[in-house]
Amino acid sequence: MTNITKDTLTEAVLATIADEADPRFRKIMISLIKHMHGFVKEVDLSQDEWRTAIEFLYQTGEKTTRKRNEFILLSDTLGVTSLIDLLSGQATEGATESSVLGPFYVEGAPIIDNGGDLIGQNPGDPGVVHGRVMTADGTEIPGALLDIWQNASNGLYSVEDPDQDDNNLRCRLHADADGAYSLTTIRPMPYTVPDDGPAGVMLHAMGRHPWRPAHIHFKVTAKGYQDLVTELYPDDDRYIDEDAVFGVRDSLSVTFARNESEDDARSYGLNAPFFDLKYDFILRPA
Ligand code: BEZ
Ligand code: FE
Repeated sequence: MTNITKDTLTEAVLATIADEADPRFRKIMISLIKHMHGFVKEVDLSQDEWRTAIEFLYQTGEKTTRKRNEFILLSDTLGVTSLIDLLSGQATEGATESSVLGPFYVEGAPIIDNGGDLIGQNPGDPGVVHGRVMTADGTEIPGALLDIWQNASNGLYSVEDPDQDDNNLRCRLHADADGAYSLTTIRPMPYTVPDDGPAGVMLHAMGRHPWRPAHIHFKVTAKGYQDLVTELYPDDDRYIDEDAVFGVRDSLSVTFARNESEDDARSYGLNAPFFDLKYDFILRPA
């Protein structure tokens, strides 16, 4: 029998993983165990601290529902979601960088006409978002589907706010035969990730705030191309350099230009001045 000591324990645990276990699962578990043991040793974790950590995870489970997953929020605010996104390598090959999906995506948003309007009755700063969907060499991708969602001027997404229609400020639209897309909407607002649960307690204990810079979410899909999930952030947002979930990338920080042209405004069904955001999405072949 192996005498278990603090120096032999990690190897003893690793030795229990069957050689026949799924190779990927085996690799993940070996690394996880090594890192967890290394972490406990590095900080010399006390029994009280471990009990506090277990209680924290228990409370995270208690706060979690299908609509509000506190574990995802922990992953987001600890940068794990963003790290996995960055490792997925969307930045390579000249494609548009990806960013985090976030918890407020709803499948099956209404399809509106290309050039359509999301403003409806929403108060806020109106503008247009337009551009093309194309490949890295500039070839247009006809008929790409853009799924678009954002928050309202009170900072809330429709799924968080009983006063908004379920589909407020969310839509899908098809780019035209030249890959061009356009829609009118309001400028999104900075907002806080939910901080009334354990993730919020953790953030505040670390001296961090829960704010995300304003952004518009996009999921762009086209047959023969990899799905792109991304966000565009106004570069003048006060939280652009301190996103609570680390989703901002330089290439996704964009200028919501002020357009004063009455003619342009009329062509979009807006009044001048309005914000004018032009952005081309570059997809990677599947
Ligand atoms: C969001 O983009 O809406 C979001 C992302 C991560 C955590 C919370 C919200
Ligand atoms: Fe968001």
